[in-house]
Amino acid sequence: EWTMANFVEEQVAAIREQAGDGHVLCALSGGVDSSVAALMVHRAVGDRLTCVYVDHGFMRLNESARIVKTFREELGMNLIAVDASEQFLGKLAGVTDPETKRKIIGTEFIRVFEAEAAKIGQVDFLVQGTLYPDVVESGTSTAAVIKSHHNVGGLPEDMKFQLIEPLRTLFKDEVREAGLQLGLPEDIVWRQPFPGPGLAIRILGEVTKENLDILRHADDIVFQEIKKSGLYRQIWQSFVVLPTNVRSVGVMGDERTYAFPAVLRAVTSDDAMTADWARLPYDLIESISSRIVNEVRGINRVVYDVTSKPPGTIEWE
Ligand code: XMP
Repeated sequence: EWTMANFVEEQVAAIREQAGDGHVLCALSGGVDSSVAALMVHRAVGDRLTCVYVDHGFMRLNESARIVKTFREELGMNLIAVDASEQFLGKLAGVTDPETKRKIIGTEFIRVFEAEAAKIGQVDFLVQGTLYPDVVESGTSTAAVIKSHHNVGGLPEDMKFQLIEPLRTLFKDEVREAGLQLGLPEDIVWRQPFPGPGLAIRILGEVTKENLDILRHADDIVFQEIKKSGLYRQIWQSFVVLPTNVRSVGVMGDERTYAFPAVLRAVTSDDAMTADWARLPYDLIESISSRIVNEVRGINRVVYDVTSKPPGTIEWE
């Protein structure tokens, strides 16, 4: 009989077998996928698991601190946190092409892991929370490469670890169920998906500290307002895209403004393979819009993306 409890037990047993006496390094992102994968592996190999959280500097407001606190203090995991934000920003200086950004971030990510692994000593395996849709979209199956998702397709050729990917057959809703089964805190279980390259692929144009601060602030307003509306769980993803190659004229008090627009993107979906733009209540859109324009310096206009996937993708890059 197929139940989630049985599936989890089988995966734990399979991981234990695959890992043998080896040491396991976990790529923890704070998302539900890598969190569930980490918990499964922790069950399987215990202390031989070390989790590494790489802060590439493209996370949401206050998110890194919360992730570290949750996994270290609440879940009691062996967690190394690396602040690599300067390094990533440096590598992205002057880069505007979406696929180039993704490749750079994916490559850098693995480099940082390798550096940590070298400090730890012997590391034989790397855990990744790769889901079924990622596998399909990254072309490791039969589908063509649409975007090089950095947890699969963007891996450098010279990567030294063997992969443990316990979620490869699961869809997102099943991962959440597995998380509940494993006792993961609810706010992580229900966290909306977030792309590996983070806010870097939500800034159209060059990723700079200034642009990141603008986007982070606007994004946090969306997060707060969506939470407040009670719609957070029903919406697959809700976020802001910042096109830094576009400016428009506005008026603020007596002053003319010339600033970036914020693109509000909210979609419903079951598995990210297809998605529909969310029919957000007008009042919610209104409060998001007025808060962003009034509170975020650098943004003077909010537009709503009403494109479904396909033909649009969820992210803009
Ligand atoms: P798209 O934009 O292709 O995104 O419709 C589909 C889903 O994947 C997420 N996404 C990523 N997830 N690494 C990830 O782990 C990535 O590089 C990446 N790029 C996109 C996206 O947020 C959406 O949920």
